[in-house]
Amino acid sequence: MKKQVIALTMAAIMMGSLTACGGSGKTAETTAAAGEAAGGVLTMATNAEFPPYEYHDNNEIVGIDVEIANALAEKLGMTLEIEDIAFDSIIPEIDSGKADIGLAGMTVNEDRLKNVDFSDPYTTASQVIIVKDDSDIAGPDDLEGKSIGVQLGTTGDIYASDYEETGSTIERYSKGFEAVQAMMQGKIDAVVIDLEPAKVFVEENEGIKILDEALTVEEYAIAVKKGNTELLEKINTALAELKESGELQKIIDKYISAE
Ligand code: ARG
Repeated sequence: MKKQVIALTMAAIMMGSLTACGGSGKTAETTAAAGEAAGGVLTMATNAEFPPYEYHDNNEIVGIDVEIANALAEKLGMTLEIEDIAFDSIIPEIDSGKADIGLAGMTVNEDRLKNVDFSDPYTTASQVIIVKDDSDIAGPDDLEGKSIGVQLGTTGDIYASDYEETGSTIERYSKGFEAVQAMMQGKIDAVVIDLEPAKVFVEENEGIKILDEALTVEEYAIAVKKGNTELLEKINTALAELKESGELQKIIDKYISAE
């Protein structure tokens, strides 16, 4: 199982880097030209299954990342367009030039940096464990030998997969909430996911809790196509302005209440 996953990941990475090498200079040009021709559309790839960062509210996609993207687009004089896709398709979508930015509560990590560039971070986050109220799992060490649910391709998936060595099994779902539901139905023992969505899921459902001890501390940033320094610099400048003016904090505070 693990081998298969690694093989698939390797294949994905190799395909990614092939695409990146094959078309780098030319693709950047085409993208910039296309952007201008389209009247400055900034396409954001996301996975709107991740409250409070991006989620569906009736027919609309809302959340912290959406508001950040809107504020950035405004500063760049562009119109925001949102593409809601599978989380593990976001990086390929940026790599192929179909999306300009990836904003999806996406954690910066070494592996991803091989395929995309990241902006300066806009917030810190952590991976936590959700269990049923009556679970015998009280901390990270108790995950050994258990069945753990994650959203496919997330850092939760990466960290939970470390426990495979201890005999744990990892169940990978396309949405984080599907993992939570499976746990509530007793199909799996625990879920590893980012703290803020965990808080939302626990608040909205009876009988589950977040363990005090987190697995990791991480940083979220905006992904852009590797080598697109022009866009990256514009985004970093706009992001710095949003931080300085207090607008970024205001957006975050609107969705996350201070403890
Ligand atoms: N922070 C985690 C990661 O980068 C999870 C992000 C999931 N985001 C989403 N929109 N579903 O892997």
